Amino acid sequence: MVDEFFPEEFDAWAESYDESVRPDTGFPFDGYSRVLAAVVQAAGVGQGDAVLDLGTGTGNLAELLMRRGCRLWGLDFSGEMLARARAKLPGAVFAQADVRGPWPQEFERRYDALVSGYTLHHFPLEEKVRLCRRYLAQYLKVGGRLVIGDLAFENAAAEDALRQAMGPEWEQEYFWLADESLAALRAAGLDAQYTQISSCAGVFTVQLHQLA
Ligand SMILES: C[S@@+](CC[C@H](N)C(=O)[O-])C[C@H]1O[C@@H](n2cnc3c(N)ncnc32)[C@H](O)[C@@H]1O
Repeated sequence: MVDEFFPEEFDAWAESYDESVRPDTGFPFDGYSRVLAAVVQAAGVGQGDAVLDLGTGTGNLAELLMRRGCRLWGLDFSGEMLARARAKLPGAVFAQADVRGPWPQEFERRYDALVSGYTLHHFPLEEKVRLCRRYLAQYLKVGGRLVIGDLAFENAAAEDALRQAMGPEWEQEYFWLADESLAALRAAGLDAQYTQISSCAGVFTVQLHQLA
């Protein structure tokens, strides 16, 4: 059983969040900067493209995309995380909302890419797949991609090896298991690819099937 997460827990983390990710090593942020760079690369966006960041936090992923000239929309349910993102990125559009919806009217549009960093592992696989389907169908332009950088393992054995190594420090969440996640996404009619980036994180690229 995995506990539901609430905005208050992230509000309390907001001030120290950027310090938490800075070491770039160890669970859960091993390879954090490489994961974000891989998401940006896989999103395949550039100057003027509209990108929605789901669970934007303090805006680290959004910042990398804005440096590429993208226009950014960011959603997060933590007001304190958003305060940091707004201070960093005054040119982006942010709103306090759950990634599961509902969203403010100004977010109800189609984007060139959807991205998400370290957020969707809060949901069980069935809900992840449901969300991916909805995001692709309602919010992506034709040919666009949903790119997810998150806590993920190739399979249950890889997750189990880290769980054993960490012992009592391990806190179970709905970390992505690439083998079952790819199977579920593909069974739902989506085109999905995965790359393992670090000991505990990887990047999924999800698209609607392209017409030949
Ligand atoms: C670990 S942080 C990741 C932040 C940022 N994307 C990054 O890569 O550094 C997870 C973020 O997701 C947000 N979050 C978690 N569950 C959410 C939900 N159901 N709806 C909206 N935001 C959520 C949290 O408030 C937090 O800012």
